[in-house]
This record gives sequence, C-alpha cells and structure tokens, in this order.
Amino acid sequence: MTDLWTAFDTAAARDANTVIVDQFTLDPDRMARMSVEAAGLCLDLSKQSWSRAGFEACIALARAADVEGRRSALFGGEAVNATEGRAVLHPALRAGADADFRALGEPVSDEVRAVRQAMADYAGAVRAGRETGATGRPFKAIVHIGIGGSDLGPRLVWDALRPLDPAIDLRFVANIDPRDMAEALTGLDPETTLVVVVSKTFATQETLANAEVARAWLAARLPLAGREVHFIGVTAAPDRAVAFGCGRTFAFADWVGGRYSLWSAVSLSCAIALGPEAFDGLLAGARAMDDHFVSAPLERNAPVLLALAQIWNVDGLGRSARTVAPYAHALRRLPSFLQQLEMESNGKRVRRDGSPVTRPTCPVVFGEPGTNGQHAFFQQIHQGPEVVPAEFVIVAKTCGDASQSPLWSNALAQGQALMLGKRTDEARAELIAGGADVAEADLLAPHKTFPGNRPSSAIAMDRLTPETLGALLALYEHKTFVEGVIWDINSFDQWGVELGKVLARAILGDVAAGGPTPTLDPSTAMLMARLM
Ligand code: F6P
Repeated sequence: MTDLWTAFDTAAARDANTVIVDQFTLDPDRMARMSVEAAGLCLDLSKQSWSRAGFEACIALARAADVEGRRSALFGGEAVNATEGRAVLHPALRAGADADFRALGEPVSDEVRAVRQAMADYAGAVRAGRETGATGRPFKAIVHIGIGGSDLGPRLVWDALRPLDPAIDLRFVANIDPRDMAEALTGLDPETTLVVVVSKTFATQETLANAEVARAWLAARLPLAGREVHFIGVTAAPDRAVAFGCGRTFAFADWVGGRYSLWSAVSLSCAIALGPEAFDGLLAGARAMDDHFVSAPLERNAPVLLALAQIWNVDGLGRSARTVAPYAHALRRLPSFLQQLEMESNGKRVRRDGSPVTRPTCPVVFGEPGTNGQHAFFQQIHQGPEVVPAEFVIVAKTCGDASQSPLWSNALAQGQALMLGKRTDEARAELIAGGADVAEADLLAPHKTFPGNRPSSAIAMDRLTPETLGALLALYEHKTFVEGVIWDINSFDQWGVELGKVLARAILGDVAAGGPTPTLDPSTAMLMARLM
C-alpha cells in the first residue's frame, strides 16, 4: 500500500503546476479518456488538474487498493461494516425481480421484494382513498418525521420529483426544535393526516420527541378507535414502533445504513405522495448505476473516476474542501444529502485495522444551487487564495420541455472561468479599452485578475426523472465507497456522532436537576446557567 501511494504522490508532485487547459493539446484523447456516459448521466472530469500520467496513476491506485475485490465483497454481502459486524447491501434494495442477494450468507431478496410490494400496495391504497383515517376520510397530507438518513434522502427525493401542485401535501420534520413541528402541523387536519415516523433504531431522541408531539396532536382530535391507522412506523426495530403506538410498520434490515436507506421503506412517504411508479423508477435508475459500477472497467467507471478526482484533489494536491453546485432548483437539497453521505461515511481518523490514518480523508463538502451560489460564496472559489474544487450537477430541462439554457449556460461559464481565469495584463487592457487611464488600470487590474487553472467536474443530464435521480444518488454512494476503500477506512459506521448524544443526555439531566454539576467545565456551566 505504501508503494502504491508513493507512485501516486510522485505523479501528484509532477502535476502540482499542471495547466489544465494545456492538457487538451498535450493529450488529444483527453475528452474521450476523462468523460463517461453511465445510466443517463454524462460525467466530465477533463477540467480536473491531472495530466494523463496523473490520471493513470490514480487508476493504478484504485487497482492496487483492490477496489474490484472490495466491490465484490460489498455486493456479496460480506461484513464490510466490520465494527458493527454487518453487511452493507443497499444495492439489494433496488435489485431486479430475479435478484438473489445474501447478507452474511443469509438470503435477503425475498424479504426485500415482500416489503417493496407491501409499500406499493399501501401507497396505492392511500392514493386511491381506499386506506382512510379513523373518521373514514381519505388522507390528504403526510407528516414524515425522521432525522439524518431517515430524513435527508426522502426530503431530497420529494423536492426533486414533486409535482408543482401535489394531491398529497408531504411535509418533513427533523429538528427537535418545536418550531419545526409547529410549522409542519400548521394548517393540517388530523382527520386527513398520516404521520410516518422513520427511524432505523426507533431510539433517536429527536425523532421520538417529535413523534410524541404528533401523537398528542392526533389524540386531541381523533377518536381512540382507529386512531392508530394515522401512525405508521418505518424501522429496523418494529417492536419498538408497535410499542410506541404505530398501527402499522414497514421494516428494513440492519444491513441498510441510515444514509444509504432511501431505497427502502424509508421512502414510504415519497412512494405515497409521488406514486409507487415513481419510486420504482428511482430504484431502476439506481440499479442501472449499480450495473455500470460492477461491470465497467476501472478507467471507464463513473463512480471510480469521480472518487479518484476527489482523492487527487485531497491527497495529491492538499485541497480540503469541495463545493457542489446543482444547477436545478429541484436538486437544492443535494449538498445537504452529500454532506451526510460523504462526511458521515468517510470523515474518519483510523483505518479499518484501527491504526491512525496518515493522510487526509473526507474533505468538507458544501454547496448551494446554481446560480444562487454564484452570488454568494463563488467569489472565494474564483479569487480566494485556497483552491476549492467545484462540482457542477447540470440538468438541461428543469421545468417543462424547453432547455433552460440561461441556467445551464451559467454552469458551463463557471467551469470555464475557473479553468481559464483572466491574466492581469488582460484585465488591464480591458480597463483601458473601457476608458480607464493608466493609473486607474494599474490600480484595478489586480482586483480583476482571476488566477484560473482551478479544477471542476461536471455531471450533466437531460432531465431530472426518477431514473436519472436514482442513478445520480447511486453514483455518489458508490463514489463514497470507492474513496473509503482507497483510504482503507470503514465507510459504514458513524461512531463520531455518539459522544455528543451521551453528553446531551447528561446535560439534560443537569438541567432537570436545577443546574450545572460542579465538575462541569466552566464554559459549558456558564452557558447552561445563561440558558436556563
Ligand atoms: O446520529 C447519526 C445517525 O445515527 C445517522 O447515521 C442516522 O441516519 C440518524 O442518526 C438517524 O438514525 P435513526 O434512523 O436510527 O433515527
């Protein structure tokens, strides 16, 4: 492994001053080599700052890290999540009708198909008004309660695919701040509202607190008889959901990680509000990307190449952040989704064997939809001293049949501006041509200079459909996995979120007991006293 990184580091050092735009002349096949079509998506990595040799060093790194072998282990249902002794089988959730996946050797596909069918039946019945509330009225609204992976995926899917005037009003509540629930419930009628509580563990403080509020809200207006049909649990712990009062539960297995769970019953609310056909389309798109990921050679494999671009930037060139800009209003939640997917998966400081990593792992991921981000933080991306690689997710037709070229033209222009920049002499000449005198031009030209040679990637699609959305999200899942393989970390646990949960319980205990314990650190004690 060390030798492998040595070759990578040598290539990165050689490419440190690569001029991206010159590479198109030096390697006439660059476009063909560094762009790929997969499952309805076009991936362009030719504006990354790698030469052909740097690119090939990255492929060699992936091969030597045994991406292919680890991929087989994932799809083969081995205990890839070793710290929890679990298989990681989200591809099984979107597999075709004749699939036969096994988790730790146990067959799982029959159960997956059964839950998928139950979801489709239930969604169809709610939509058709055959499934009604306690007073016999059809459901018109859904309140989806969940947090993290039990929220971000379905919320993104809904925003991405929802009709402009939906027949079912789907609302999401994640925050334990009562304001979130208050906003969601405002204007809803308990008689026509379905509450879907989504929690893998059914033990998450925020979700249970919100579920209690929703349960009380239903109880205040509905008769006891039949009230439970308003309360649905989606969980890997159905006993807890039933004990909580859910009239019906939809289960998923412990081999589904929270941030990889949108393909399961976790998206029940979306299957109801969008229709089961849309959910099937989402699964089909992800399945197409799975097929590509398992069959394409590494050098033509979209998730592998996207992962390598990130590794090149982070490990090769020391760039510790990446911005993601979806040029589609409907994809505005993508940056938040990716923050959990990538940073919870790969924000790790030890390798699989427990030894500390010696290289950086996951960068900071942030973003805003285009063009909004251009009018906010893009100043820093263009002219700040730190290089932040950008990723443009571009949809040609975002609204109706016509191509929204004013939107995607901006994405293309941003990628071009980052790569080409503007030299000081060009800026100065423009100022003089615009009427400035020499002194003014000399003063202003440095401010109007763009260093350029800044890397970006693009993922382009014609339309945002259930299929292309499924392919996009599966692309990011597999990219995240490949990075974890190369960094030799477990991408599927999240121990780093546990300590804060424990301390929050202790602080709540102190508050209930009337104030800080004497052993509490002075800063926390002062803040507690101030807030009580
Ligand atoms: O705290 C992090 C986390 O465990 C995520 O990994 C998970 O998606 C989220 O909490 C919600 O967990 P649950 O679905 O069990 O409520």
